[in-house]
Amino acid sequence: MSVIKKCLFPAAGYGTRFLPATKAMPKEMLPIVTKPLIQYGVEEAMDAGITEIGVVTGRGKRAIEDHFDISCELEQEIAGSDKEELLNSTRDIMDRCTFSYTRQAEMKGLGHAILVGEALIGREPFAVVLADDYCVTEGDGVLTQMVKLYEKYQCSIVAIEEVPVDETHKYGVIAGELEADGVYRVHNMVEKPAPKDAPSNLAIIGRYILSPDIFDVIRSTPPGKNGEMQITDALQIQAQQGKVIGYRFKGRRFDCGSVDGFIEATNYTYKLQSN
Ligand code: UTP
Repeated sequence: MSVIKKCLFPAAGYGTRFLPATKAMPKEMLPIVTKPLIQYGVEEAMDAGITEIGVVTGRGKRAIEDHFDISCELEQEIAGSDKEELLNSTRDIMDRCTFSYTRQAEMKGLGHAILVGEALIGREPFAVVLADDYCVTEGDGVLTQMVKLYEKYQCSIVAIEEVPVDETHKYGVIAGELEADGVYRVHNMVEKPAPKDAPSNLAIIGRYILSPDIFDVIRSTPPGKNGEMQITDALQIQAQQGKVIGYRFKGRRFDCGSVDGFIEATNYTYKLQSN
């Protein structure tokens, strides 16, 4: 059994880059071909041995709860037909995972959303998935890779990738010492730096494993960029104590929070599935 049992999905954001699609529908429900983004994330968690799923939602996000639940009329309608198997993947998730939900009433940033999730996590290390970062791998999923690393390092781990220098302002960016192949001991992190202020071009993407003291650290960290509670600022405190690992995961990430990334992911996955 995995040492990490719980995964938190902060999913309260407005998804303004996808308006009008996201006016009444969560961005996490946008499908890559036929499967919603959040389902890919839950499957990645399940592959890593994680079966307790916590979701931080907000207004207009009820479709996420309905997706991971029985839909009586629909299921009766397709019973016995060859369409039944189209629901196999969601049934499998529902059989193996439990889901808990809590609401973030005000969007005060990702750090705040994670803090709101404390009620679902308690005092144990946990994974965080931002479902709009859709990751494709050939072998182990990104969370599986990170759980293995956690077993060795026993501290917070952030997934990182190299980004073009002129895109550092979109990410949390790290600086660190290379400890092993693809593994950095982080000593500095900056939230959305301009290229000239970026300590490197190694950007944090939407996969984390966090040690439970992160909740106290977030609570005691003042609001940062844009007046929001940034997870990067809290992780920076842990990094100063040598307790954050940056991991260059094996695989490819699509930024499905942006229209370009979403279209690219859709084309890529459609081609993969048609072969
Ligand atoms: P984004 O920066 O992508 O913001 O949040 P967004 O609101 O979802 O999308 P845009 O920029 O308006 O198009 C990164 C992740 O953090 C979550 C979001 O749901 C997303 O998964 N988040 C962010 C929260 O849950 N609460 C917040 O207050 C902020």
